[in-house]
Amino acid sequence: MEFSHGSNMGNDESSSSFSTGKSAQERGLSHVPESYVIPTSHDPNLHPETAKVPVVDLSGLRHGSAQRSLVIQNIKNACHLGFFQIINHGISQSLMDGALSSAFGFFNLPTPEKMKLMSNDVHKPVRYATSIKDGIDNIQFWRVFLKHYAHPLDDWIHSWPANPPYYREKMGNYCSEVRKLGLELMGAITESLGLGSAYSSDKMNEGMQVMAVNCYPPCPNPNVALGLPPHSDYSCLTIVLQSSPGLEIMDMEEGKWGIVPKLPGALQVHVGDHLEVLSNGLYKSVVHRAILNCERTRISIASLMSLGLDEKMGTAEELVDEQHPKRYKESSFGDFLNFLSASDIGGGKAFIDTLKIIK
Ligand code: OGA
Ligand code: NI
Repeated sequence: MEFSHGSNMGNDESSSSFSTGKSAQERGLSHVPESYVIPTSHDPNLHPETAKVPVVDLSGLRHGSAQRSLVIQNIKNACHLGFFQIINHGISQSLMDGALSSAFGFFNLPTPEKMKLMSNDVHKPVRYATSIKDGIDNIQFWRVFLKHYAHPLDDWIHSWPANPPYYREKMGNYCSEVRKLGLELMGAITESLGLGSAYSSDKMNEGMQVMAVNCYPPCPNPNVALGLPPHSDYSCLTIVLQSSPGLEIMDMEEGKWGIVPKLPGALQVHVGDHLEVLSNGLYKSVVHRAILNCERTRISIASLMSLGLDEKMGTAEELVDEQHPKRYKESSFGDFLNFLSASDIGGGKAFIDTLKIIK
C-alpha cells in the first residue's frame, strides 16, 4: 500500500509539515493539516468491528507439564494469527498503572522540557519525536513518542527522562518485569515450534529491549488521520500495554481491520518480523495500526524484544527441509534501523518484504 500526496503539497500552514515541538498534535490544533490526511481508500473506520483475538491464560505455564502443554498449544494457535492477548501474566496492575502514569506524566510536561530529548536519528538509544520521521516522510502521523532502550537497565536508565521524578523508577520496574515475561513467552514460543524452550534463550538474554512509549492526543478529525500507519514490528515479539482501545489488527483472511477489544488487566502480544523469520513463516508478524479519537489522549507502551544490535536472526535449520525451503534472509536489529532511516514506513514500505527470498 503506497501512501503519497504527490508533488503538490501546499505551502500554507494548513498543509505543510511541522518539526517536532511544533507539530499539530503537540500544539493541539483544532483542525487536521493536509499533511496528515491519508488517502481515502485507507480511511480509518471509526466504528470498526471487534477483532477476533485469542486470549491466552498463562497461569498454566508455570504449573505441571499437562497444563503447560495446553498453554503451549494455545500459544501455537495464536502465533499462527500473529496476535493474542495474555491474562494471568504475572505483572501486577499497580506496576502497569505506574508505567502508564509515568508515560502520561512525561507527555504532560511542557514541550521545551521534552525537546531536550528530541532527535530524528533512529539510532539514538533515547529520543523524543513525533509522527515516524517528522518533516521527512510524505504523510505525518498524529503521534508523539519517546523511545528508549531498557536492557541492561543500569546502562540506560540514567539517560531516561529525569521528569516526572518518578519516571525512571516506575517505568524501570515495569520494564524489568515485562522483559522477564517476554523471555518466558519466547521460551514457550520456541517450544511450540518444536525447538525446545531454551532454543533462543542465550541470545535473547543478551538481546535488546526497546520501549516505544506512544502518546496519541485527541484528534479533531480522527477519521482522516492515523496515529500509526499499518506496519509490523521488526522484533521477535512485542508486548503492548495500552490505556484505552485504539490498536487495530488486520485480519489477513478477510482483508479487514478489527479493533482489539478492551480486556482489563490483559497485555497484547504481537509476533514480530524476526519471529516470522525464525519460524520460516509458520508464524506471521501481524500488521497493525493505531487509530485516533477526538476525546481522550491514548497511551500505549510497547516493549520490543529482539536479539542484540548486530546479532543476525535467521530461520531455524530444524524447520527447513526440501518441502520447506528457507524463505527469509537473516537480519539484525541494526539492519532494521538502517532500513527505518532510509525508508518511508508510512508510505507502505515493510522491512519483512526486504527479507523474503520466497514471496
Ligand atoms: C508500535 C505500535 C501500537 C499502539 O509502537 O509499534 O504498534 O497501539 N504501537 O500504539
Ligand atoms: Ni507496532
